[in-house]
Amino acid sequence: QAEVSRVRNISRIQMGKYEIEPWYFSPYPVEFSDMDMTYICEFCLGYYAEMKQFERHRAKCTLQHPPGNEIYRDEYVSFYEIDGRRQRTWCRNLCLLSKLFLDHKTLYYDVDPFLFYCMCVRDTYGCRLVGYFSKEKESAEGYNVACILTLPQYQRKGFGRLLIAFSYELSKREGKLGSPEKPLSDLGLLGYRAYWQENIMDLLMEPGRSEANIEDIGQALAMVTTDVTGILVFLNMIRFDQGQHKIVLTDAVVKQWEKQKEKEKAKGKRTIDPSKLKWKPQI
Ligand code: COA
Ligand code: NA
Repeated sequence: QAEVSRVRNISRIQMGKYEIEPWYFSPYPVEFSDMDMTYICEFCLGYYAEMKQFERHRAKCTLQHPPGNEIYRDEYVSFYEIDGRRQRTWCRNLCLLSKLFLDHKTLYYDVDPFLFYCMCVRDTYGCRLVGYFSKEKESAEGYNVACILTLPQYQRKGFGRLLIAFSYELSKREGKLGSPEKPLSDLGLLGYRAYWQENIMDLLMEPGRSEANIEDIGQALAMVTTDVTGILVFLNMIRFDQGQHKIVLTDAVVKQWEKQKEKEKAKGKRTIDPSKLKWKPQI
């Protein structure tokens, strides 16, 4: 507990073709604190303090994708499901790496109770990790995401949206309403708010859907109603009238939605295609 709140210890990491400056402390072995560079294998997530050692490792490392089942593949990304109990070392390495960018007070050394959903982009060599979220195998609170991260070299490119969308697709398959573990980080909150706003607005702007209530939205998007209410209040879209609530489409949100659609037209919108998800919940 004490060590996790210590100051940043790793100066720089090299991962694939990227050099990245960590944001927070992560409990890598103490000898890594004295190094100018920590070399991280993109595939097994092993860490090396010396370039020579790292190169020797790369010559031997045979992994070309995360060590689990590929449960989703489209033209753009793949998702792998990794069981923390079966792939303890890999998942601990992932937690160590992601702690560099997460200011959480607790770090899960115990990866056994979690599944890790890892999103990759493919090239001729293999599947390169872009981001992931972890999920408790059994969450008493009904959380569908514990930790979520887009590696910094891939942030602000729409990958976070895909990770979040994927987490709700799993909830839909389970026939459950999901919610990310609280509290969210500042960036987590920005990412989720953007996702919730876009998807709720897409729904309400569909022909015949403008009368949808909070429960309808929750069901359609696999969101718990407290999250639906929270974002609608945040967006100033709820009016109370004679003990009833009413969702209103303000000019501000409609304008924002139109702008978003323009952006998507220009850049293309990446989504998760549920028909490409080859997955059943474990029971
Ligand atoms: N500033 C402002 N808005 C931001 C933002 C930032 N730095 N990062 C994300 N957003 C909002 C934007 O509305 C963005 O849409 P836009 O780029 O079209 O404006 C939207 O979120 C989605 O962004 P996207 O590119 O899909 O997300 P991402 O791949 O950057 O991933 C996180 C988002 C939260 C996963 C990423 O910031 C992250 O890994 N942060 C560090 C770990 C963390 O805090 N995780 C959450 C723990 S609860
Ligand atoms: Na989260």
